[in-house]
Amino acid sequence: MQLELASEIDFDGWRQQARWLAARSIPAHDVHWRINGAASLLDEVPTVAIEKSSSSETRVPRAFVELARTVVLHRSADRFAALYRVLLRLRNEPRLLELDVDPDVMRLRIFERQVKHDEHRMHAYVRFRKVDGERGAHFVAWYAPEHHIVEATAGFFVRRFAGQRWAILTPERSVVWDGNGVTFGDGVPRAAAPTDDVLEDLWRTYYASIFNPARVNVRVTQGHMPKKFWSQLPEAQLIEPLAAAANTRAGQMVAAEAAAPRRSHAPRPSAPIAVPTADSGAGNEQRDLLNHCRNCPLWEHATQAVPGEGPLAARLMLVGEQPGDQEDIAGRPFVGPAGQLLDRALKEAGIDRSEVYVTNAVKHFKYELRGKRRLHKKPAELEIAACHAWYESEVDAVRPDLIVALGATAVRAVLGRALPILANRGTVIEPTTESGVKGRVLVTVHPSYLLRVLPETRDAEYAKFVDDLKIATRYIRDRTAP
Ligand code: URA
Repeated sequence: MQLELASEIDFDGWRQQARWLAARSIPAHDVHWRINGAASLLDEVPTVAIEKSSSSETRVPRAFVELARTVVLHRSADRFAALYRVLLRLRNEPRLLELDVDPDVMRLRIFERQVKHDEHRMHAYVRFRKVDGERGAHFVAWYAPEHHIVEATAGFFVRRFAGQRWAILTPERSVVWDGNGVTFGDGVPRAAAPTDDVLEDLWRTYYASIFNPARVNVRVTQGHMPKKFWSQLPEAQLIEPLAAAANTRAGQMVAAEAAAPRRSHAPRPSAPIAVPTADSGAGNEQRDLLNHCRNCPLWEHATQAVPGEGPLAARLMLVGEQPGDQEDIAGRPFVGPAGQLLDRALKEAGIDRSEVYVTNAVKHFKYELRGKRRLHKKPAELEIAACHAWYESEVDAVRPDLIVALGATAVRAVLGRALPILANRGTVIEPTTESGVKGRVLVTVHPSYLLRVLPETRDAEYAKFVDDLKIATRYIRDRTAP
């Protein structure tokens, strides 16, 4: 018997058919599931259409339904059959799921674990790229999950970035959030993983318009598609299905999830601090290690960890507080408004940012959700302490001549204690050996302080900040002078 499912993740279709089959005691080895029009070994065998209204006496434990929902997302072609086998057995063995050593159950558990793992990876590794367009900024990412998890993970990204417009393109599916609703469509094939430039072009000329449900016009959009992209995608059936597949049911599901209450941010007792072993720097190795850091709870709500970046041979190291909203999305420190101000001040102080190592005391973004906005929250002492080993590993790797601590959190991380900033700014602190402080330190204000001060004092405060950075420049220059 061949049965047809509407999509790779058609759980409802599978459930309805599986109940119908089970009610007729059709053995698992007589059933083959095929996904909506996909080529099948049994192409000559007609698919069976079950009566939609057929009732079913098959009752299964709730835990099985939950398990099946996850297992359906697995890439294995055998998943629907494996689920049906267990469903049939559950009729006579109601406690079957408790038998973790049963081969059928074990197989489903493995599928479940792999899907969940893939979801966690996607949460942690999607990297957004900011694209400025006519309708403002969007964030676009390309990512290749192993299993069919785009719909299942969309809620996570909606909750995290409710206030931004973004798209995640994957080889199979794409998901777009326009600030109000979510739309799913076809993907960008793995063979043509777009480079950053192509990603930008794609967004500007294609996805941004096609995903506006009010304005879907396939032919027009196809005309807008950059030629260079089509030449790389000879087999890509990108256009038609995208518009056709706008999946409102999934959209409602995600919207409902987005409204669900969130867990609180209250810090829990910190796990023991794991001392990082990798070399520091903005390398992927450091990023991967950081993304696995569970020393404090901040990882849970952040998109990703944001490692320091800059040359390991840098003579100057700047330490900020923690990544902000934009840094959390981009995975890079100081790229948002405070970063832009910092860049300007560095330039005025004669410092080339590309020669500086820039990092933060805390590597995950801590925030509070206010509607759709993620409002910065100051890291707690526990969180600064939990991240300290990462900071130290960076100092050990870079061994800068001077560390500039930007603001109170950085001062605490760098000096291991609080120090009034305004009274101590602009002088280089030579730490004693007993203090355990690594390197010479200059303290100054955080650039976001300059964004908050009263407008009438802003210029003067900014000038003082540039003066502090100039002191750093001179200090480094004097140490180099013959
Ligand atoms: N503020 C910081 O302290 N660090 C960043 O990376 C961005 C804003």
